[in-house]
Amino acid sequence: MTGRSDISGLVDEIRRLAAERGAVILAHNYQRPEVQDVADFVGDSLGLSRQAAGTDAEVIVFAGVHFMAETAKILAPDKTVLMPEPAAGCPMADMITAEQAMAFKAEHPGVPLVTYVNSSAEVKAVSEVCCTSANAPEVVRSLGVERVLFAPDRNLAAWVAAQVPEVEIIPWDGFCPTHDRVQVEAVEEAAREHPDAEVLVHPECRPEVVALADAVLSTSGMLRHAVASDAEEFVVVTEEGLMHGLEKAAPGKRFFGVCPPMLCPSMKLTTLEKVCDCLLQMSGEVRVPDDVRARAHAAVERMIAIG
Ligand code: 13P
Ligand code: SF4
Repeated sequence: MTGRSDISGLVDEIRRLAAERGAVILAHNYQRPEVQDVADFVGDSLGLSRQAAGTDAEVIVFAGVHFMAETAKILAPDKTVLMPEPAAGCPMADMITAEQAMAFKAEHPGVPLVTYVNSSAEVKAVSEVCCTSANAPEVVRSLGVERVLFAPDRNLAAWVAAQVPEVEIIPWDGFCPTHDRVQVEAVEEAAREHPDAEVLVHPECRPEVVALADAVLSTSGMLRHAVASDAEEFVVVTEEGLMHGLEKAAPGKRFFGVCPPMLCPSMKLTTLEKVCDCLLQMSGEVRVPDDVRARAHAAVERMIAIG
């Protein structure tokens, strides 16, 4: 186990190495608290993509899961993108391959494919546009069409369909194991225990869970909402790593999870030690073949331009 003095030693070493390497450290809102705290920027998928696209740093250390680091490489091809834990994947992203995405499109000729960023570069490369949980309805609306294919998250697809009823959404059957397993009863129980709390739900949850929400938001959307809201208490239905950011952003307010706690094992694979090793050895480089990158870039760039 890493003790408090070890942690501060590691943090100093990471900051020293980051300065020496000209590296920026990006961390997702679900990362371990100490990894979030050492990062230059902590955010949701959309915010992290924007940071990667805009950074002046030569090296991007990405504390998150593989599709996020890959998206950074797609947007910043001349930068060196490193993952402290290259084995950290997203099970939902693995639920559709490029071959399956092409077959899906072939079944629905002429219907554009909107792909959640939680997907591989190869799948993005055969998509018309990407989206994140922060902008999915806007992206679908922006296409101005009657029907879209949506992959890989069936739950996000259902939420978008409710937000944009004028467009028919044809979903792929993927899901996030961490969010999809949350039961209605667990949210109802948390809401009963904290009757004054606002219920914040991530759109990767099932529709019947989303239906219990006061607000349906991306992870950074939840952070902004908690700060701005008049409420003092919140039931937070997303991965528990967000609690750290919520408590920092809105000190004094109270945040409650559901039972059993929501944990994404992949997000927890990255540790301070691995961040330090990766900077020391410049290891865990993420590469995307040029032809895939160019096609995936068009879909990601189109999303960033929308919002
Ligand atoms: P956000 O973009 O809302 O941070 O979500 C990413 C993710 O993987 C949620 O499970
Ligand atoms: Fe993927 Fe779910 Fe983990 Fe997000 S929480 S990275 S969607 S498995």
